[in-house]
Amino acid sequence: MADIEITEAIDPGVSRRNFIKGVIAAGAAVGSANYMFRGVGALFAQPTSPGAVERLITLTVNGQQRRVDVMKQETLAMTLRYKLGLTGTKLGCDRSECGACTVLLDGVPHYSCSILTQSVRGREVKTIEGLAAEDGTLHPVQQAVVDEQGFQCAFCMSGFVMSTVGFLEGNPNPTRAELAHGLSGNLCRCADYDKILTTMERAAENMRQA
Ligand code: FES
Repeated sequence: MADIEITEAIDPGVSRRNFIKGVIAAGAAVGSANYMFRGVGALFAQPTSPGAVERLITLTVNGQQRRVDVMKQETLAMTLRYKLGLTGTKLGCDRSECGACTVLLDGVPHYSCSILTQSVRGREVKTIEGLAAEDGTLHPVQQAVVDEQGFQCAFCMSGFVMSTVGFLEGNPNPTRAELAHGLSGNLCRCADYDKILTTMERAAENMRQA
């Protein structure tokens, strides 16, 4: 009897099972949002002084102009992940230690957890989502990751890839030691450095042949 009442009250075409699934999904979404924005919740709540800073700004990300509402204290990593949906940029330490959040600014690797979004206006931001060609062809560094399978959990992978892309622009034919030094700002929690270096040597090779 209760089943019939719920079903009819919502929509004659929606089953009780689907209704309950919907309620659970909505609860999970709200819970996730609270978790994701826990670090910036206070920022959202802050009163803004009119005219203090322009919040609706345009960023150039992966070759596209993106309008986004940004608070003055917001980091680029937060904007990329939670405003623009570019979750390929990972957040590990959130304090400039691990490199998981590395993106390119005008071709140079930077920790996006430690850069204010407001400061990158007018610069070209590239994330791992912007590396592959429009037809889906992987960037040579991405292809090397596929070829060598050099990562374990791969949480650090996009950071390593972005750092490698930036590094190889300046040194397309590095020794293994130079590569290790160039990528020393990226940490791997699985400590899979030997395989990662082999992967990135392959990446350099792919880049030279591309
Ligand atoms: Fe930015 Fe670790 S998350 S350096």
